[in-house]
Amino acid sequence: MSRIEVEGMHRLQGELTIQGSKNAVLPILSACVLNEGETILHGCPKIQDVFSMLEALSLAGAKYHWEDHTLILDTSVMYPAPFIEKAGSMRSSVMLLGSFLARFGKATIGYPGGCCIGKRPIDLHEQVLTAMGASFFENEKYLEAECKQLSGCELYLPYPSVGVTENILLAASKAAGLTRVFGAAREPEIMELCKFLSVMGVAISGAGMGKLQIQGGKFKKNIEYTLCKDRIVAGTYLMAVVIAGGEVYFREMPLEHMKSTMKVIGMLGAHCKKEGNRLQVLMKEKPKSISYLCTAPYPGFPTDLQSPLLTALCFGERKSCVEEQIFENRFLIVKELEKMGANIKIDDRKVMIHPVNGMYGANVTAQDLRGGAALVLAGLGAEGVTLVENLEVIERGYEDITKDLHALGANIRRFS
Ligand code: EPZ
Repeated sequence: MSRIEVEGMHRLQGELTIQGSKNAVLPILSACVLNEGETILHGCPKIQDVFSMLEALSLAGAKYHWEDHTLILDTSVMYPAPFIEKAGSMRSSVMLLGSFLARFGKATIGYPGGCCIGKRPIDLHEQVLTAMGASFFENEKYLEAECKQLSGCELYLPYPSVGVTENILLAASKAAGLTRVFGAAREPEIMELCKFLSVMGVAISGAGMGKLQIQGGKFKKNIEYTLCKDRIVAGTYLMAVVIAGGEVYFREMPLEHMKSTMKVIGMLGAHCKKEGNRLQVLMKEKPKSISYLCTAPYPGFPTDLQSPLLTALCFGERKSCVEEQIFENRFLIVKELEKMGANIKIDDRKVMIHPVNGMYGANVTAQDLRGGAALVLAGLGAEGVTLVENLEVIERGYEDITKDLHALGANIRRFS
C-alpha cells in the first residue's frame, strides 16, 4: 500500500497544467470498441481506471501503446471476451455493456465496483438496454447480456444518470433506427462522448440539453481526437489553493464547464482572474464559511467536489452546511477529518461543519477517490504532518497528485 506524507501550512505558488478527464475518457474508451480500426487519443490521463479499462479491452483482443500522453488503440480485431475478476475495481466496467452489445451482440462482465459512495445499482442500465432489445442473465459473479440486433426506441429516464445516458449513446450508435432520450444527463462528459461519437460518424443532436437523438449508422475507421481537461481535478486543485492559500496559475482549465465550481471558489474567498489560457488564483485569507450548499446534477455543484469542499469548510470561521443529493454514502471522509480535529455532524444526507481552532496532522486513510484527494488537501492546511494511507484509491483518478502539489510548493512526499 502506498501513502502520502504532507506537511501543512505552506502557501502554494507556481503553475500547473490540468490532466485529461477521467470521466470523459472511460466511456470514450468503451466507444472505441465500436470502431473497427485505430483510435489516436491525445491528452489521455495515465490513471488506474484507464489502465483497468485498457486491460478489459486487451482481454477482448484490442492492442494499444502509449506515446507520452497519446494513446494509440487498435480495435480492428476484437471478440466478446468476458471481463469478470477486475470489473469490480471500477464503475466504468458497466460501460462495456452498451458497446459490447452493439458490436458483438454479447457482453459478459463482473459486477461494477468503484468507490463505495452509495449502493450504485445498475437497474436503469439494464432497463434501457432491455428496451433496446437486450436480454440479461444474472448470477452471483457476473452479468451476461445478449441481443440479436439493438433497435432504436424512445427512452424516458427517471433520473439523469450519467452512466446510463452514456450506455444508451454507445448502444444507440450501432442500433437499427433512431433512439430518442428524454431526461438525459447533461454533464460535460456526456457532451464529450457525443463529440467523439460524432467524429466516428454517428449523427447525434441535443448533446448537453437533456433531450438526445441518436441515429445509429456506419462508422469511419481511424479516428484522431483530443480529450478535454478534467474539471474535477481542476476543482480539487482550486480547493487546494483555497485551503493552503497562495498564488497559483492553472493552464488549460476547462472553465466553460466549471461555472458552479468557480462560483463556490469565489464564495470561499479566492480571487480568480483569466489571463489568456491561464487562470490566476489568489487566496490571501482563511476560507470563508458557506451557510448552505447542495450537490446536484450538472450544471449544479458536482458531487465529485463535495469532499474537497467539505474539507475547505473545516477551515472556516463559522458554521457551514453541505447536502449531498446524488450518492447516499459520500461522507466517508468525515471520520478521517475528525482525526485531524474537525467538528462535523452528519444528519442523513446533510453535514454541519462547525468551526474549530485549527486542524492538525494525523494518520488518515483514503476511503474513496475524491475523499482521499480531499484528505491530502486537509493535510496542506493542517498544522504538522499528515499521513494519507491507501494512495491507490486516489491514483484511480489523479495521475500524480504528489507531483502536482509538489510543483506548487507543497511539502509533500509519496511512499510505496
Ligand atoms: C458518474 O457515475 C461518474 N463516474 C461519477 O464520478 C460521478 O460522481 C457521477 O457520474 C455523478 O456525476 C464516471 O463517470 C465513471 P450516475 P455514475 O449513474 O454514472 C443512481 C468520481 O469521483 N443510479 O449519474 O455511476 C446512482 O446510485 C465519480 O469520479 C441508479 O439508481 O453516476 C446515483 O445515486 C464517482 N440506478 C445516481 O443514480 C442505475 O442504474 C447517479 O448516478 C444507475 C444510477
